[in-house]
Parts: sequence; C-alpha cells; structure tokens
Amino acid sequence: MTKPIMLRFLIVALAIATVSLVTAQVPPEKQFRVVNNDEFGDYITEYDASYRFINSPNASFFTRPFQLLFYNTTPSAYVLALRVGLRSEESLMRWIWDANRNNPVGENATLSLGRNGNLVLAESNGRVKWQTNTANKGVTGFQILPNGNIVLHDKNGKFVWQSFDHPTDTLLTGQSLRVNGPNKLVSRKSDMDGSDGPYSMVLDTKGLTMYVNKTGQPLVYGGWPNHDFRGTVTFAVRREFDNLTEPSAYELLLEPAPQPTTTNPGNNRRLLQSRPIGSGDGTLNLNKINYNGTISYLRLGSDGSLKAFSWFDPATYLTWEESFSFFSTYFVRQCGLPSFCGDYGYCDRGMCVACPTPKGLLGWSDQCAPPKTTQFCSGGKGKAVNYYKIVGVEHFTGPYVNDGQGPTSVNDCKAKCDRDCKCLGYFYKEKDKKCLIAPLLGTLIKDANTSSVAYIKY
Ligand SMILES: *[C@@H]1O[C@H](CO)[C@@H](O)[C@H](O)[C@H]1NC(C)=O
Ligand SMILES: *[C@@H]1O[C@H](CO)[C@@H](O)[C@H](O)[C@H]1NC(C)=O
Ligand SMILES: *[C@@H]1O[C@H](CO)[C@@H](O)[C@H](O)[C@H]1NC(C)=O
Ligand SMILES: *[C@@H]1O[C@H](CO)[C@@H](O)[C@H](O)[C@H]1NC(C)=O
Ligand SMILES: *[C@@H]1O[C@H](CO)[C@@H](O)[C@H](O)[C@H]1NC(C)=O
Ligand SMILES: *[C@@H]1O[C@H](CO)[C@@H](O)[C@H](O)[C@H]1NC(C)=O
Repeated sequence: MTKPIMLRFLIVALAIATVSLVTAQVPPEKQFRVVNNDEFGDYITEYDASYRFINSPNASFFTRPFQLLFYNTTPSAYVLALRVGLRSEESLMRWIWDANRNNPVGENATLSLGRNGNLVLAESNGRVKWQTNTANKGVTGFQILPNGNIVLHDKNGKFVWQSFDHPTDTLLTGQSLRVNGPNKLVSRKSDMDGSDGPYSMVLDTKGLTMYVNKTGQPLVYGGWPNHDFRGTVTFAVRREFDNLTEPSAYELLLEPAPQPTTTNPGNNRRLLQSRPIGSGDGTLNLNKINYNGTISYLRLGSDGSLKAFSWFDPATYLTWEESFSFFSTYFVRQCGLPSFCGDYGYCDRGMCVACPTPKGLLGWSDQCAPPKTTQFCSGGKGKAVNYYKIVGVEHFTGPYVNDGQGPTSVNDCKAKCDRDCKCLGYFYKEKDKKCLIAPLLGTLIKDANTSSVAYIKY
C-alpha cells in the first residue's frame, strides 16, 4: 500500500525539482535590450576613442568608477567595453576590458539579456558577434561589481559567468590567471587596433612569462618564468598594515595560490622589503604606494610593456598615476623592452644611443631598421650571407634562455644562422661559448662585457 504512494511522492518531488531547475530565469524587470545608437560622449578617453553610453531602466551599467559602454577608434567598428575613471575628474578614462575586441560591431548593434540568461551582442541584422553562452544555466541577473567584475549571477548569487574569467590585456585588483583556466593576457595591436597583438603574458606550471610572437615563434622577454605560483596568480593591492585605524601604505603584489599547508594564516604580514623581492610564500612585491590604491590595474601594453596604474579618487586632477613598470629604472632595465628603440636600436641605460649598420654604429632615429627575413628567405639561394659585428651587446631574450646554447664554437653558431633563413643574426658569448640565434632583433642591449658579440646579417 505505502509503496505506490511513496513512489508517487518521489515522482512529484522529482518533477518539482526539475521544474524549479528549469524555471530559474531572468525576471522581466531585469531583462534588457540596449542599442548602440546613442550620441557620442564628451571628454577624452584612452586610445583617443569615441564612446557611447548604454542605458536601460532594467539594469545599471555604472558602478563607480566602472562603466560599461561602446567605444570605437575607427568609424563604425564598436567594442563593448568596461571603462574606469570618472568624467568629472577630467582625467583620462581607461578601457580595461573588451568583450569583442576581435569582432567589433556596427551601428545599431544590440546588447541584450533575455529570459534565458544569455548575454548577447548582435549586429542590427541579428547576427551574433559575441555572447556569454549562458542560456538556460540559471542566470537571474546582471551586475557590475565595485571591483570591476561584470557578472551574471544565479538566484543564490553565485556567478554563472564573470568578466574576470575572460581577461583581455588587463588584470584588475583581485583578478587572477590560472594554469587551468584563463591563463594569459594578450596585448592589443595598437591604440587604433584593439585586436589581439603580438605580446602575451602566460601562466603555466613553470612561471608567469612574457612572450613576443612576431615571427611565428614566441620569444620570452620578461616576466617571472621560473617562479612557482602554485597554479594561480592574482594581482592584489594590500594594506601594508592590517590595523585599519592606522595610516598605511599599500603594496602592489602578484600573489600565488595559498600554500596548501596551514602555516599560521592569521599572522602572515610580510616585512617590507625592497623591490622586487617577495615574501617567503612566493608573493612578488611590484611596488609600494602611499595611498589607498585599491582601484588599480595591471596592463600588458601594445608595445609589450607591463605597467600598473592606480587611481586616487580624492585628488582633484590627475587622479591616475603609473604605479609600476616592469621595464623601468627601478625594476628590470628599460633597454630590456624589445620595442624600446622601435624596430631596431642599440640601447644603453635607458637611451637608444645608436643605430647598428654594416658601416658601424650610427646615430639612432626611429627610422632605424633591422634586416628583413625576406632578404634571406625568398629566392636568394646560393647568395652569400654577410654579417656585421657589434661588440658588447646582448639580445633581449638572453637573460631568460641562459644566453643560448652551448658551449659551441663561433663557427658552428654562424653555420646555424647561415642555414636558417629566419635567423637575422647570432649572439655569441666568447667566454662561455654560448650561441643565441635571433629571429627578431628589436632593441639590442649594451653589455659592458666586450666578450658578448653580435653578428647581424645583411
Ligand atoms: C524591463 O522591465 C519591464 C518590467 O519592469 C518589462 O516589462 C520590460 O520588458 C523590460 N525591458 C526589456 C527590454 O526587457
Ligand atoms: C539605426 O537605427 C535608427 C533608428 O531605427 C535609424 O534611423 C538609422 O538609420 C540606423 N542606422 C544605421 C546606420 O543603420
Ligand atoms: C605565433 O604567431 C603565429 C603567426 O601569427 C601563430 O600562428 C602562432 O599560433 C603563434 N604562436 C603562439 C604560441 O601564440
Ligand atoms: C590599531 O591602532 C590603534 C591606534 O594606534 C590602536 O589603538 C589599536 O589598539 C590598534 N588595534 C589593533 C587590533 O592592534
Ligand atoms: C580603499 O579604497 C577602497 C576602494 O575605493 C575602499 O573600498 C576601501 O574601503 C578603502 N580602504 C580604506 C581603509 O579606506
Ligand atoms: C665578462 O663575462 C665573463 C663570462 O661571463 C666573465 O668571466 C668576465 O669577468 C666578464 N668581464 C667583465 C669585464 O665583466
């Protein structure tokens, strides 16, 4: 007797459970559909971009100081993006997250969140250009959080989708890269062109490494390639002192995942150390600033730079400042930035001092150009390759690849470059007999040690 009743009860219970799972939807008053056709805003923004606000009575696209809107740097190619900074400050407002930077939309494109919870950016003809792929996943609302994270949440407040999981070239305070997740930042091509550029910063099990990929072969030029972040690295800004009633400086940090062992988590204040030394738990201290810089971001620039910028709201003008730069006088030498001297140049203590040529070191200008692989790769079979020599020079990738391979003889090193039409030159350490083959030249770093020699093809 009781069995069928139990069964019926179970079936009903199951049905209710299933229905309630399926019916978690975005309520009508939280659905929105906004069109990219508003007037352009005033005030300058980063990249000299024009911008348009979006508005809906059903959603807020502004959480101080973050705002979601459309911007464009070329006519009729709009990117849905998050901006930080306030108009009233008359300080450059910055673009810190792009939804569709490789896939811009045109006039009258729509951003909509319908009942099913999928956030969709579509052309005016309905063609989808970008979406969060969150249809029927229990989304009940949209929000921009005070830390700049754009989220689609379910009825329990859990994030079904978050922009923090889709970084472009920027990490906001509290945002992470993960070995098993979003694991890299990719630069934009230029101010004008926001699509994927040649620089990336990638987290893997070995470390956090900056690569330049202009030749089809990524070359390491910076970062922390041999630092164990235990699978996750977070850009953090923390008070130097926990006691909130005390004035305190703030530290810009790259934090690894917490240590698995519970070694006294309550009292883990780090001693303030001179840069760039971190604490014992593997935290890297990028810089210290003397104000509440909680609103900060870390950006991989279109020139390959890695910089942080911090916002100090109480300032009456110039509310933003550069608060960290990887290639700088206080961190890693400026000459280490491959693009520092444009396409080519000889760099000494932060200055492009010469343009290397077959005739010797001439005066540098931004016209200084390296040889092109097309000179050696196309046709030219049987043509003898010539090299000119530069004494006292280092390649930007040298410090990260142990100066190349070897010990080997300078003749073998040359032979290797001879054979490889993509090799533009070779760098040889005469003392250690190390050989570095260079498919990309860029900025050559002056090395006081005259036993470091470069041979450049021409
Ligand atoms: C906005 O909310 C109202 C209910 O408050 C709803 O009738 C309307 O359809 C919503 N707008 C959109 C574009 O979904
Ligand atoms: C955008 O839509 C408005 C209003 O429907 C229309 O007047 C305008 O011509 C459209 N613009 C373009 C470029 O299609
Ligand atoms: C490097 O660039 C080439 C050409 O653009 C591309 O095919 C390749 O996938 C890139 N490699 C990496 C690791 O990104
Ligand atoms: C924080 O600093 C204030 C002022 O120096 C002091 O009175 C207070 O005891 C401190 N609190 C803690 C928890 O250390
Ligand atoms: C620092 O700034 C953040 C963001 O503006 C704010 O939430 C926080 O309360 C500030 N901290 C202190 C100690 O004032
Ligand atoms: C040049 O480099 C070699 C090998 O690294 C080293 O032994 C030598 O002391 C250096 N010379 C100078 C002048 O720094």
